[in-house]
Amino acid sequence: RELCWTLLILVVGARDGITAEAISREDFPPEFVFGSGSSAYQVEGAAFDDGRTPSVWDTFAHSGRVLDKSNGDIACDQYHKYKEDVKLMVDTGLEAYRFSISWPRLIPNGRGLVNPKGLQYYNSLINELLDNGIQPHVTLFHYDLPQALEDEYQGWLSPKIVKDFTAYADVCFKEFGDRVSHWTTLNEPNVLTLGAYDIGFFPPGRCSSPFGFNCTEGNSTVEPYIAAHNILLAHASVARLYKKKYLAKQKGIIGINIFAYFLVPFTNTIEDTRATQRANDFYIGWFMDPLMFGDYPEIVKKNAGSRIPSFTPSQSRQVQGSADFFGLNHYTTFYVKDDPDSLNNNPRDFRGDMAIKLTAKADRVSKAEESPNVVYEAKLSSGTDAIPPGMQGVLQYLKQTYDNPPIYIHENGQMAFHNASLNDMSRVKYLEDYIQSLLQAVRNGSDVRGYFSWSFLDAFELFDGYQSSFGLYYVDFNSPDLKRYPKLSAHWFMDPLMFGDYPE
Ligand code: NOJ
Repeated sequence: RELCWTLLILVVGARDGITAEAISREDFPPEFVFGSGSSAYQVEGAAFDDGRTPSVWDTFAHSGRVLDKSNGDIACDQYHKYKEDVKLMVDTGLEAYRFSISWPRLIPNGRGLVNPKGLQYYNSLINELLDNGIQPHVTLFHYDLPQALEDEYQGWLSPKIVKDFTAYADVCFKEFGDRVSHWTTLNEPNVLTLGAYDIGFFPPGRCSSPFGFNCTEGNSTVEPYIAAHNILLAHASVARLYKKKYLAKQKGIIGINIFAYFLVPFTNTIEDTRATQRANDFYIGWFMDPLMFGDYPEIVKKNAGSRIPSFTPSQSRQVQGSADFFGLNHYTTFYVKDDPDSLNNNPRDFRGDMAIKLTAKADRVSKAEESPNVVYEAKLSSGTDAIPPGMQGVLQYLKQTYDNPPIYIHENGQMAFHNASLNDMSRVKYLEDYIQSLLQAVRNGSDVRGYFSWSFLDAFELFDGYQSSFGLYYVDFNSPDLKRYPKLSAHWFMDPLMFGDYPE
């Protein structure tokens, strides 16, 4: 089986011009950036310090809804240890750091008064990064909505969120925009809408779906669509504000982030091929189509019927073209089967609309020349299926479907479940192979401008807490000072990747 796999890599690799040579930063254009990332709730800690109020994540985690019953009260304590962390970033050779601003730390009630301590923290972090030659890439919203707004009007389910999110963004641009030139409005809205309103594993944990996890009562057939609509309008409103009020002076760019698997038909039948397009339309097109073309994909509108809101002509004009770039979070590949029964069997399940079934396992390893959607067999690597050609695949899909938009790979990395070993050779292999595949996509003309591994530190992981580790750095969560230790992957990032060779 190992031999088969090696042969497959050689066959596919030779076809795509991939050689076994080590990948290095030098292979990419000089203006391309290499970095790593985090999000506020997952690393900052200091949940009760200096005027920060709870976000929906605090409430959710404190009600025992995370798999290991943990929370982000302390997390990696980056709030107090950011200087140490920036030093580690320098050691690792990072050119950029992707992080998010905690809305309830900056504006504790969600709107109104700005918290001076919050301002001070983000100013210090940004300045520390810049003083060390690291570009800040800032996400405005990485899931941690102020609880106050959830309580007042149900957060993303209400159109009122548009005004408050825009006012919050205004504060960020005004205070930090002289030094930040890469802004992302929202992280993974396509995961948020499903996680929070269909399956209930993200706060506010609403669903009515038979697949829901222990959730509070919602209406999963309409709420994901309503939240998505408000999110798109909120993004567009913030992008418009930036362009009208700040762009001329600050000259930055503003985008949004999308989570995407590479999706491959399970078989070469017309049914599975169509199902794959449907899945792409529901997962990616649901957000990308309005942003690129001004409306939801036809199949999404058809299957969702009256449950999906319509854009007015002026909303559609505002949303279309409002993202200067897309952040792409890509981890693995899935195989899509046509599943017409899911439409009827799960009337309360949003996923029924797609009439598909996803599977992580290919039924076969096809020959490379058989179809453009080569079926790659997964190499199981403790948690995440590593299928590196999927990086090229998803980028090719976006290039073809959306006329080659500018992209930053905002997240990619190997999850290790219950395994935080310093000797993370499989993560090194994962990163090496995925970046190799990314290089191939760049050489084939995809407009990718940066790569951020997820994540810089082992952190509080949404869904399962401290059980899985994504970091280049291990954090000893049992030590009083939360000591960080570089894994092999951190050394690899620094030496062969950034400096082109292993140390003597
Ligand atoms: C996506 C999310 O943006 C991030 O917060 C999360 O930790 C990773 N994926 C891994 O699940």
